[in-house]
Amino acid sequence: MNITKESTIAELVAQDYRVTAVFKNKAIDFCCNGNRSIQEVCNNQSLDADQLINELTATMQQGGATNIDYNSWPLDLLADYVEKKHHRYVEKAIPEILPYLEKITRVHGGRHAELEEVLALFNEGAGELTKHMKKEELILFPYIRKMVKAEAAKTTVEAAFGTVQNPIEQMMHEHDTEGDRYRKISALTNNYTVPEDGCNTYRVTLSLLKEFEDDLHLHIHLENNILFPKSILLEKQLNA
Ligand SMILES: [Fe+2]
Ligand SMILES: [Fe+2]
Repeated sequence: MNITKESTIAELVAQDYRVTAVFKNKAIDFCCNGNRSIQEVCNNQSLDADQLINELTATMQQGGATNIDYNSWPLDLLADYVEKKHHRYVEKAIPEILPYLEKITRVHGGRHAELEEVLALFNEGAGELTKHMKKEELILFPYIRKMVKAEAAKTTVEAAFGTVQNPIEQMMHEHDTEGDRYRKISALTNNYTVPEDGCNTYRVTLSLLKEFEDDLHLHIHLENNILFPKSILLEKQLNA
């Protein structure tokens, strides 16, 4: 892929997820604000666009490391994958992280007042994310699978919610909210840095929280940048 200053962050990430390492390094939001071009991002963050393009190109040309080509997957497979990999991970991780976070807030909250806030944010996010995933599992993803079947059978589909763009807009709005929430958690914990007086539980908790945010980024990327735009396109094709 030829990267230009007009290439968008989302396009590049959809092409090769390994570029997220470069974006993370430069604090470029690739997950919820992916529709910006390289040039726009560089203008906003005072970065050198040519240098960024060179780094991205080098990363994409690296051999060896596995880059799963989600872009080539059928949409029903991608929906199954997101549900079985990322939704299940979230369900499993929340009850694992919560007791640790409660414990370090109890023990270290006096000296690290930000932990109260991190705990409140995590709790709120856990509730919201659980509801969000149910909506995807019960409404949006079944419709996507139905569209894939209709395409194979050369029939059309009709959705109770009008067009697929409606639930997708709602889901993307909720992704933005979660993205913001984890940006706050990351800032409050100084990018998950264990303080000098932090114990082992503190270390484990922050590393689990970081893993949770990283997984959320990939999860939201697969939906926002691949599954959702392709579903909108498929619906248009079916009803053309
Ligand atoms: Fe999801
Ligand atoms: Fe989602």
